Amino acid sequence: MRYRTLGRTGLKVSEIGFGAWAIGESWWGTQPEKDSLDALHRALDLGVNFIDTAAGYGNGKSERLIARVLKERREEVIVATKTPPAAGPWPPSPYCQMDERYSEKYIRNNVEERLRNLDTDCIDILQLHTWTRAWNRNPKPLDILKKLQAEGKIKYIGISTPEHDQNCVIDLMRRGYLDTVQVIYNIFEQEPAAELLPTAKEHHVGIIVRVAFDEGILTGKYSLNTKFPKGDFRKNYFAGDRLQRAVRRVEAIKKEIAGTDLTMPQLALKFTLMHPAVSTVIPGIRNVTQAEANTAVSELPDLNEDLLKRLRRHAWLRAFWYAGK
Ligand SMILES: NC(=O)c1ccc[n+]([C@@H]2O[C@H](COP(=O)([O-])OP(=O)(O)OC[C@H]3O[C@@H](n4cnc5c(N)ncnc54)[C@H](OP(=O)(O)O)[C@@H]3O)[C@@H](O)[C@H]2O)c1
Repeated sequence: MRYRTLGRTGLKVSEIGFGAWAIGESWWGTQPEKDSLDALHRALDLGVNFIDTAAGYGNGKSERLIARVLKERREEVIVATKTPPAAGPWPPSPYCQMDERYSEKYIRNNVEERLRNLDTDCIDILQLHTWTRAWNRNPKPLDILKKLQAEGKIKYIGISTPEHDQNCVIDLMRRGYLDTVQVIYNIFEQEPAAELLPTAKEHHVGIIVRVAFDEGILTGKYSLNTKFPKGDFRKNYFAGDRLQRAVRRVEAIKKEIAGTDLTMPQLALKFTLMHPAVSTVIPGIRNVTQAEANTAVSELPDLNEDLLKRLRRHAWLRAFWYAGK
């Protein structure tokens, strides 16, 4: 496993981190607890020292599992968790009031719950789970986190970008509010390369890449016949003709690595690590096989320039109607 510096935190983090959403046993269908515990142990055995979780991953279940595993092991592991806004639209609308979604009382109570679940007295990285640029002018929730930092409850402060407006955090990065940003960056979603990633590099903000597999499709294992069970959020994410469109695009990407030893999961993870602003990528990991396959990617050789250039053509602007269907 190779390690990189997480921006201005100075922390040395494993290139491959552990995305701990699915092990919360919510939104991803059935997830046996033994698989989750074994996966966490195996990932740590293989050099992972960075885990990303959240309050919302199984209502704290993911955090509690991580705490159990860390209690049994002595090595230094950095855990990033997230505080979501109080009940209301997700992502927050431009009309949401900061004081209603992230009041000081609410943030304080929520952070106390994170500390209890993680069984610690100080959180390594506390990320606000989502944001709206409507709050940029006077980002009071980040000032509240600064207070908690001064009180020793959290070490570093981050935001996880809202999917529809990832660039909303750039202004905050420039103004020095953030130690880390968690961002969607993958072969389909390459927009962060325009400004967010270069700004992170310039201002020494640590970059945590999420959803490198675009919720699994970029592993190349889904087909037109794939059916997601009830209770699995991918049933909605890939609803209607989305699965068909995404599979078609993945088939085109597979042609780029035909005749090489690279697999799609390897390509998807290595693609993100090729950007110099990226400190760690956190694939969702549900079992030992995935822990082994994903951690091994760190030591693979870099992708060559020619392949990287060809991958740029697979960027997919899905959020806008201009591109048509
Ligand atoms: N708003 C936010 O802040 C936010 C949102 C989303 C995610 N996240 C974070 O980012 C992490 C990663 O995102 P994600 O888990 O949503 O999606 P992802 O990393 O794009 O995909 C993860 C899924 O791909 C499959 N997989 C993993 N490794 C594989 C391999 N080597 N070969 C084949 N299949 C493999 C697994 O599902 P199956 O085994 O079921 O196929 C796994 O759950 C999350 O765990 C979470 O920590 C944060």
